[in-house]
Order: sequence, then C-alpha cells, then structure tokens
Amino acid sequence: QDLTPLTVVVLGASGDLAKKKTYPALFGLYLRNLLPKNTIIYGYARSHMELNDFKKRISSYLKGDESKKQEFLSMCFYHSGKYDEKASYDQFSEILKKSEEKWNSTSVNRLFYMAIPPSIFLEVSKGIHDSLILKSGGWSRIVVEKPFGKDLDSSRHLVTSLKKLFMEKDLFRIDHYLGKEMVQNLMVLRFANSVFEPLWNKQHISSITITFKENIGTEGRGGYFDEFGIIRDVMQNHLMQVLSLVAMEPPVSMSADDITNEKVRLLRCIQPVRLDETVFGQYLGNDKIPGYLDDEGVPKDSITPTYAAAVFWVNNPRWRGMPFILKCGKALDERKTEVRIQFKAPENFLFKDQDITRNELVMRIQPGEAVYLKLLTKKPGLENTIEQTELDLSYKNRFENLDLPDAYERLILDSIKGDHNLFVRDDELDIAWQIFTPLLEQMEKRHLKPEPYEFGSRGPKSADELSKRFGFQRSTGYKWPGTSK
Ligand code: BG6
Repeated sequence: QDLTPLTVVVLGASGDLAKKKTYPALFGLYLRNLLPKNTIIYGYARSHMELNDFKKRISSYLKGDESKKQEFLSMCFYHSGKYDEKASYDQFSEILKKSEEKWNSTSVNRLFYMAIPPSIFLEVSKGIHDSLILKSGGWSRIVVEKPFGKDLDSSRHLVTSLKKLFMEKDLFRIDHYLGKEMVQNLMVLRFANSVFEPLWNKQHISSITITFKENIGTEGRGGYFDEFGIIRDVMQNHLMQVLSLVAMEPPVSMSADDITNEKVRLLRCIQPVRLDETVFGQYLGNDKIPGYLDDEGVPKDSITPTYAAAVFWVNNPRWRGMPFILKCGKALDERKTEVRIQFKAPENFLFKDQDITRNELVMRIQPGEAVYLKLLTKKPGLENTIEQTELDLSYKNRFENLDLPDAYERLILDSIKGDHNLFVRDDELDIAWQIFTPLLEQMEKRHLKPEPYEFGSRGPKSADELSKRFGFQRSTGYKWPGTSK
C-alpha cells in the first residue's frame, strides 16, 4: 500500500452523487484501513455551506460505527468556489498547499473526483489543470463519471479536449458496473472453468439476454435524465460493458490493456443497433405513484425513453447470427440486473410428450449475487416426469460473512493504486457510441414516441414480443428460489 499522504478533492461535493456514492465509498475504504494514514478529503462546490452543515449532509449516507464516522468526518473539509473562474481555483490551491504542508512530507498525491454535471466537465477540468494539479512531488489523477458525451461527436470532443489537459494514464473514466463483484466474476467464470468454453458460442446458445430493471422512477433526477434517456444512461455504458465481458475472446493476459483490447475488438464486430429491432417505452403514473412526466424537471411533452430493449449482432465466428438482447428500464416490477444465457434444446430429444424448457445459465449481478444453472431433472419418486430445477451458487448461502465492497469503493481504491483495469479507455468509448449514435439520431429526427407502460409492470408489451421474435423462450411456471432472498 502506498503510504504517501493523499488529498482527495471531490468536485461537485454538494451534489447527489457525492453524497450517495463518493463519500460513502471513501468511508468504506477508511473502515477497511485502505486510505493512507495522512489523508484529507476536500469537497469543492458552488454552494455556500458551513463545514458542519456539509458534514451533516454527507453523514446521512455513511453507514457504520458512530466513532469511526466521527474520525472520518474529521478528515473532511469543504470549500465553496466558482467552477468557471481561475481565481477561485487559485485560492483553493493555496488552501490545499497549506493543509498539505502540515504533513511535512517530500511527496503528496492528489486525487480529483469529478462528481459534476457534464455541462461543466470541461471548465472544471481546465480549472484543475491550470491551478490544482501538482507540478512535482507526487501524482495527480482525475476520476470522471459518465455521461461521456451524448453521441459520437460530443464524446470525441470531450475525449480530445481532456487529452489536451491530462494524460490517459492519469485519467480514470468510471463505469461503476465494472466495479461490481459479479461483473468481475464474469471473466473468472468464463476463463478459469473448462466446462463453459466449449458451450460458449452460437452452436450451443440460442440467445443471451442482459437485463437491468429498477423498481423506482427517476425520483427528482428527471432534469438530468430527460436530456439523456435510458439508452445513454444505462444501455450504452453499463450494459455494453457487461456484453463485452460476456462475449469477448480470451484476452492475451489479465493486464488492463490486453483486456480492453479484446473488448474493443468485440465492440468493433457489433453492427449499429437497428430501429426495427428496438423497443422503447416511458412509464405512466397512477393515482398513487407519479409517472415520468410528473417528475419536476421533465417537460410535459417529453418523449425521452425510460425503458429500452434492443437486439445486438456480433459479427465474428463465435457469435454470427445469434442475438444478444439488452433490456433496461426504470419503474418496473422489480430491481435486478442479470445475464441470462439460454441454451438450445438438445437434438434427438427423447421426452417429446413432456413440458421441456431450455437450460439457462443465469449470472445475477444484483441484488443477491448468484450464478445458477436451470436444468431438468427426473422428479424424485415413482412418477416418471421431468421437473425444472437448478444448480445454485447463491453467494449468501455459499460464502460465510459475505462483505462485498460497493463498486465505488473498489474503483476509487484502484484509482489510488493507479490500476486501470476496471476503467473505460477512450477507444472503447468511441466504439460504443458508434453502435448507438445512428439509432439515437433516427429516434430524435423522427421524434418517435415511446410506448407507454404502467409503473410496476414488466415494461412495454412489445419488449416481450421482441425477445420472442429472436428466439427467447420464456418459461413462466418456474421461479428461482433465490428471488425472494
Ligand atoms: C447510473 C444511472 O449510472 O446507474 C442511474 O445514471 C441508475 O440511472 C444507476 O439508477 C444504477 O446503478 P446501480 O448500481 O444502482 O445498479
């Protein structure tokens, strides 16, 4: 562990992301003793706030022992300054210098975490570059959060502008799905076990579905969300990352560059999504729950989708002709993210008169991490019938005292260590945008209206039809016993 004193600067410290994710993750690292002994955390934002009020604000999301919480809060400071004024950053720089001098150390590191809206990305980056990065004596690293642009052009503009200011080695683009336990397990499952590889192709698999469901609406985030919509918010980044890891060829090594090279190679084989293979929807409210259009910040005539399902084709020998179905939506019937691999039915099937369902391998990313294989077995007893059951690796049951770090904890720790493995490289981003931009442009140009769906439902009716059209067989009778855990 690097013991060099560390200053963490959270830009946008008064915002939601900082409160709900960044500070709790830093606290998690503190509890695990993973921050250097000499660490200070400086929040920077426009709002004027007394330090105590700021601490109150962030402490509401810190979970754990009260005395530890107080120790952590004593490392936290707050400074209010402008985002677009050099003088503000210069003044802040003096404050940082003064507090770092107390450590009397020849070297200090600085981590800048940008928890800010995309509209001010560039001006804040410039402020950091011109006034705050260290010229000598330690590293300065920048952590940025999506959205990285709105389409190919804006993403390229952002990438080139940031490149003028920082080196790729100092930039850490977060896609927090890469920090999730089960997402990391995907590579281990695929490449450390010999049972899967022979089956991991279009000869044996009929479709792969990646699903992201939330059972809450936009809840006050409508202002941000309406400008982006679910395709840019979730599908283009989180779900494409999962798809890359599920579908890529084995990398040459476990190094960050080798893994990303393989992901990029895979993404380059994916055709741009087609409008006629896409379904999108928007949730309605009822007398108890507000609909999307009721969220303040959302224009009453908004046609921004809160649900999307789309089919992806990977043109390489392993996958050509086999559909990847990606689905994501807010305000649905449950919260879950999973990868579902549906296998083909066996040939020369013996049990024609029985209700036979297909094997499925499910990797449950959240909640309740699990891997289970749905299979058929003879119903125990005298009857000669077949029953659907599962081989179930539910983490809660299998691993004692399970204490999984939050995705953000892992990612912030990796940025402190300088490990790029779980971050998004610029070329990866570019190709992901190439896959989606034609679709997004068509939707916007033609002003296409999303299909309405009820809050708390499975989403637009056409989404199930889309999956069916591409060969997915849904078995309704079976319920995985882990569902309620
Ligand atoms: C964020 C999206 O990136 O991911 C949100 O902006 C979404 O809209 C969130 O709710 C989901 O993250 P998680 O970790 O709760 O699945």
